[in-house]
Amino acid sequence: MIIIRCDKKILSDNSEIETLKKTRAVNVKINVHKSINIQSTEIDPSITIPLEKTNNREQEYYRELQKAKDVHHEGVIRASELLKAVRKGHTFSLKVVKQVTIDIVESLLRNSDALLSLSQLKGHDDYTYVHSVNVAILITAFYKSFGYGSDKLVEAGMGGMLHDIGKMRIPEYILNKPGKLTDSEFSIIKRHPEYGIDAIDDKSGISDITRKVILQHHERYNGKGYPFGIKGERINEVGLVSAVADVYDALTSDRVYKSAWTPHKAIACI
Ligand SMILES: [Fe+2]
Repeated sequence: MIIIRCDKKILSDNSEIETLKKTRAVNVKINVHKSINIQSTEIDPSITIPLEKTNNREQEYYRELQKAKDVHHEGVIRASELLKAVRKGHTFSLKVVKQVTIDIVESLLRNSDALLSLSQLKGHDDYTYVHSVNVAILITAFYKSFGYGSDKLVEAGMGGMLHDIGKMRIPEYILNKPGKLTDSEFSIIKRHPEYGIDAIDDKSGISDITRKVILQHHERYNGKGYPFGIKGERINEVGLVSAVADVYDALTSDRVYKSAWTPHKAIACI
């Protein structure tokens, strides 16, 4: 697959390229030196970008890219360990979750484009684990744009890592069902934010911001979300941010019941 870096935008999907062709753009400049050959989420280490041909912002991006790749990879491993432990009823280390989140925040503070671009590369890794990391990245980047400092970003990012932890108490045949859920199955799914709060209840050092992400990431501004159907300003700011991050990553990923949407189609829907 060829990833085309176009200003701040990475085109990674043939349908995006087809859409670009249909626009009224007269000229599209593609710098092949800035394109990356990529297989799944693995970056080919043999490919080097000639830094002397890039501006400062691009240099920062490429310098951060390798570190960001390690942060993303480590995050997926830790998310996998965490969620598997909870599924088995085992305890888990909040310290590990916090360290992964600190690494995410530090990478985004050095250069947000690098880790954000990796969160958009959808490979064939297990969706549940990658989704936890991607939501943590998207929430943190979004929250950062509001001007919050690193402590608050870590609290919000930890919510992203933990947001679906309650799903580990839901039978896998419901979570992985390719067809439409029955009303009773959906009512079970709707409990997962509360199950998530239960799962962290015995942990100390979890902030209110982290809890709000876990509890409110399926609430909707119009009151049609769950588990409580609260609306408007009653939903915490970080709850709304996490809802957008969760939906965006889900829409742009392949699922058992649908193919991945392109980023522009997902944004138009949100
Ligand atoms: Fe969820």
